[in-house]
Amino acid sequence: MICLGIESTAHTFGCGIISSKGKILANARKLFTTEQGGINPSEAKEHHESFKEEVVDSALKEAKLNVSDIDLISFSQGPGLAPSLWVGRNKAVELAEQNDIPIVGINHCIAHLEIGKLKSKARDPVLLYCSGANTQVIAFESGKYRIFGETLDQGIGNFIDSFARHIGLGFPGGPKIEKLALKGKNYVGLPYVVKGMDVSFSGILTNLKRKYDSRSYKTEDLCYSLQETVFAMMVETAERAMAHCGKKELVLGGGVACNKRLQEMCKIMCGERGAKFFAPENSLLVDNGAMIAWQGILQRKTASKNYSEMHVHPYERTDDVSVDWCE
Ligand code: ATP
Ligand code: FE2
Repeated sequence: MICLGIESTAHTFGCGIISSKGKILANARKLFTTEQGGINPSEAKEHHESFKEEVVDSALKEAKLNVSDIDLISFSQGPGLAPSLWVGRNKAVELAEQNDIPIVGINHCIAHLEIGKLKSKARDPVLLYCSGANTQVIAFESGKYRIFGETLDQGIGNFIDSFARHIGLGFPGGPKIEKLALKGKNYVGLPYVVKGMDVSFSGILTNLKRKYDSRSYKTEDLCYSLQETVFAMMVETAERAMAHCGKKELVLGGGVACNKRLQEMCKIMCGERGAKFFAPENSLLVDNGAMIAWQGILQRKTASKNYSEMHVHPYERTDDVSVDWCE
């Protein structure tokens, strides 16, 4: 069976094609970026409208397939920005309806987790999901993916992007902050905000902005200290979830997980606990269509041809989804 998956929750329009054996045949994407400032939802929607045909065509070309070779279509149903989600949903329904292919809607956060499981062959991991809008420590318990810890305010990527925007860097800010952090040598004290299993970033953001505006610190040192502080918070909560659930595998997911320092800190923590650590390649960490296609394969039993009933779920939570594909 071959599934074509469409991703469009936020800034990325992606189309991935995968076989039921987990072979990725294509993973095309187009990212909405800015030189300065963040994402405006209606601009992201316009971006997706302009590139949707090109991205789907290039995925089919990369896979050397025609639409008639596709057995199943999946799309990101949520959570995400409603205007962006509708572009992906409409493209997926159009392709499915025109070619009489069953379709299935996917939870984006769970797709981040399952592609990590596929690639790592982990059986029952804790997932540290660090993306723009989402920051969650997730594990499978009693029939659902449960959130053991999460951000109480903004997502870690949005926090990093907000600081990047404050210092004049465009979107996405994460990779630029990572580069600057490599040049930082002095740790500048920042609030460390872990409340039980949850984390919070807004106070740290205010503190960082004030420090930057005071001109008393080197930008590189602030970027370095930002990473050391918030990544330590994430690693602490992930470790506590592993200890609590007795799980011995950690899988990273989400765009922020591309950060080499975060990966290194997770690796050290897992090494010390005798646990296995896995970070998928960057193209599968960031928003992408291949993970949506793989999740489509996992949920193929719930696919249907009731095209008009396909909606988007901008606020769907990871623990809203009933999971019937795990052992
Ligand atoms: P979600 O809908 O799952 O919340 P998202 O739409 O925010 O995801 P992702 O592609 O998963 O999208 O993540 C994008 C985020 O990842 C941006 O905030 C970006 O700055 C951040 N990012 C990308 N690369 C790095 C990096 N090397 N270091 C830190 N952050 C990074
Ligand atoms: Fe994502």
